[in-house]
Amino acid sequence: MTDFIQGVLVPILYLLSAVLFIFGLKGLTRVGTARRGNTMAAGAMLIAIIGTLLDLGFVDYRWIVAGLVVGGAIGAIAAVRVEMTSMPEMVALFNGCGGIASALVAISVLWLDVVEKPEVAGTVASNLGGPAAFTTFLSILIGTLTFSGSLVAFLKLNGTLPGRPIMLPGRHALNLLLLVGSIAAGIAMAFFAVDLGTIELLCLGISGASLALGVLLVIPIGGADMPVVISLLNSYSGLAAAATGFVLNNNLLIISGALVGASGLILTQIMCKAMNRTLLNVLVGGFGVDEGTAVATGEYGVVRSAGAEEAALILEAAESVIFVPGYGLAVAQAQHTVKELADRLTKHGASVKYAIHPVAGRMPGHMNVLLAEADVPYEQLVEMDVINPEFKSTDVVIIVGANDVVNPAAEKSPGSPIYGMPVLEVWNAASTLMIKRSLSPGFAGIKNELFEYPNNMMVFGDAKQILQELNTELKDLLGA
Ligand code: TAP
Repeated sequence: MTDFIQGVLVPILYLLSAVLFIFGLKGLTRVGTARRGNTMAAGAMLIAIIGTLLDLGFVDYRWIVAGLVVGGAIGAIAAVRVEMTSMPEMVALFNGCGGIASALVAISVLWLDVVEKPEVAGTVASNLGGPAAFTTFLSILIGTLTFSGSLVAFLKLNGTLPGRPIMLPGRHALNLLLLVGSIAAGIAMAFFAVDLGTIELLCLGISGASLALGVLLVIPIGGADMPVVISLLNSYSGLAAAATGFVLNNNLLIISGALVGASGLILTQIMCKAMNRTLLNVLVGGFGVDEGTAVATGEYGVVRSAGAEEAALILEAAESVIFVPGYGLAVAQAQHTVKELADRLTKHGASVKYAIHPVAGRMPGHMNVLLAEADVPYEQLVEMDVINPEFKSTDVVIIVGANDVVNPAAEKSPGSPIYGMPVLEVWNAASTLMIKRSLSPGFAGIKNELFEYPNNMMVFGDAKQILQELNTELKDLLGA
């Protein structure tokens, strides 16, 4: 029976779980299938847990059940309670938990199979095997680094630590020293140390150094760059899990860890590309570093502005309208009001869409989750590459609290810091209405030439308030 469970049933469950993880991830790539993808991945995790418990056979389940109950309760309460705007903090915390869990499992294998077995002589490699000894070290290094880095990211995002970059003198040299020192200690611990006390000491040294490295790597990065860092740390937590999979000889942990590692890295790459920055540029800091204090470079020439009444008249005649949501929509919490206006326009016979820039807002998918909260139909959300050719045949584009993602300088001004960043080509529409409170710059801290375009009207004010006024004006004009 045990042979059947461990030799046949468990591998089948692991295979099923791995396939479900992959299809779950595929589902998460589209808004319409994301819910199903999430359920599939959760199901895959359940099957993985059942498979692992069956593989363990008859052991003392008390600690395992206690862990499942406490962990499950914390996860469920956090998921129900968390505000959409606090999602990056929660992801940061969960990444950190993943990292430290992998490191602790690797450390306990080291302790149980080597350190606490004084009768076993020889190096860690001669006890666990060379690859397992090396991946034990990798798991401790990456896992603890992910833990402390994610905690710093969490504290920066929730305001406990200042969001501005904290630059310590000589930090690059210190980081290099810690990394090279950890690698040297790791190789010594895995392959050369025979004395159990030395192995123990080297393991503690690596853990301490990588905890410090995690803090030092994240502390110089500005709060607004945290989404990129969190995505990178997410990738690290996957790598740590995969390394622990090698330690435990568990294929499913290797597969799922590799999936998290690769997808986190791809998301990091997508975000960097959409901001036209290299990962190195984000990691060494220095761009958009102190949000709120950035100043627009250059004076503005003629800027036309309109009140809600005039803007409503422009909208009354429009047959096609595209909304461009940005960070200001999230700040004003205007997602329901924007939906109300869109519904009114649709009822009046206009075609309505939303143009979604990949880095609009401050976290991946920020606009998608906000608009989904207001029940905006998925099919109305159109990605940048698809919607860009449509602006030419659009009557009115309403830009709600977005700035950098519609800045023509990205295409037309080679000297601009955002030159080369892909943007929404809203200026090709017949007219644009830009709802924001002032001429202040966005995250990038630079002038937006769209403000001066002859077909653009600024509608100054808080996004929610202006949209409410537009709704009232249109109700009077259209009679519904
Ligand atoms: P931004 O360029 O940052 O512009 C947002 C605008 O919203 C501001 O100019 C602000 O102007 C306006 N605003 C703020 N509160 C408002 C309110 N209550 N009502 C109306 N308007 C309000 O935003 P974006 O266009 O969404 O671009 C995102 C930027 O963030 C990009 O530069 C991107 O690279 C960066 N970024 C994104 C991410 C991710 S993953 N999404 C991560 C890191 C950085 P006023 O002050 O004049 O109102």
